[in-house]
Amino acid sequence: MSNQPLLTASNLCFAYQEAGDMHTVIDTASFSIEKGEVIALLGASGSGKSTLLNLLAGIEQPANGKIIMAGQTLSSFPEPQLTLFRRQHIGFIYQLFNLIPTLTVYENIALPLELCNIAADLRCQQVMEWLDTIGLQNRQHAFPDQLSGGEQQRVAIARALIHQPMLVLADEPTGNLDANTGLRILDLLTGLAEQHQQTLVMVTHSEIVASRAHRVLEMNNGKISKANTTLAW
Ligand SMILES: Nc1ncnc2c1ncn2[C@@H]1O[C@H](COP(=O)(O)OP(=O)(O)O)[C@@H](O)[C@H]1O
Ligand SMILES: [Mg+2]
Repeated sequence: MSNQPLLTASNLCFAYQEAGDMHTVIDTASFSIEKGEVIALLGASGSGKSTLLNLLAGIEQPANGKIIMAGQTLSSFPEPQLTLFRRQHIGFIYQLFNLIPTLTVYENIALPLELCNIAADLRCQQVMEWLDTIGLQNRQHAFPDQLSGGEQQRVAIARALIHQPMLVLADEPTGNLDANTGLRILDLLTGLAEQHQQTLVMVTHSEIVASRAHRVLEMNNGKISKANTTLAW
């Protein structure tokens, strides 16, 4: 088991229907990801990167093909089981942070632990540790709209990692930040993923972000090309 890749996707297909026509977004994509790898997923706008992350997260189900994660065939899970798997094992970071606006910083970070039914005292201890890690202990009672973009993304990173997911998916995590803030967020995210031996897949347009990855996957018309390319720049 330990020699198996963390994740294997084979012949993944995803299409949507619009005005009676089927549009293929993911077209027989196949790839593997090892435990602890940091992957950059590159590709033109509209090439299917976000859709692929949603498939890996179990937010969308493939029309065809298979996703096996940690020995479990996600693509055959019924919806309730998929939701449970996602809550326990996946962390998701978005370009626009996607914090819950009516919850405080503290409450946003605590949410994944609540969904995993972690006891209140342990939850509190872990949230305080993560607030310390991201340097926002003094903002724990603030609401997301009272924070800068970089601060919101730090909260989103803590929220994505606090339940120790096996796979962290980040959809253009620095895409809405200025260059310096983006670099600090990138350092934080890759540093924490490494420290916690987590597997990280980052969608990005940035060569700097991609240069921090162990490996680059490229999406092209819904297919994964250059699946084994190591970075050239
Ligand atoms: N359920 C859907 N309904 C309509 N269009 C969709 C749906 N899912 C994906 N698309 C379209 O598929 C294409 C790929 O989307 P996306 O995965 O968001 O690409 P990327 O993240 O690479 O920019 C886009 O043109 C998007 O509008
Ligand atoms: Mg996208």
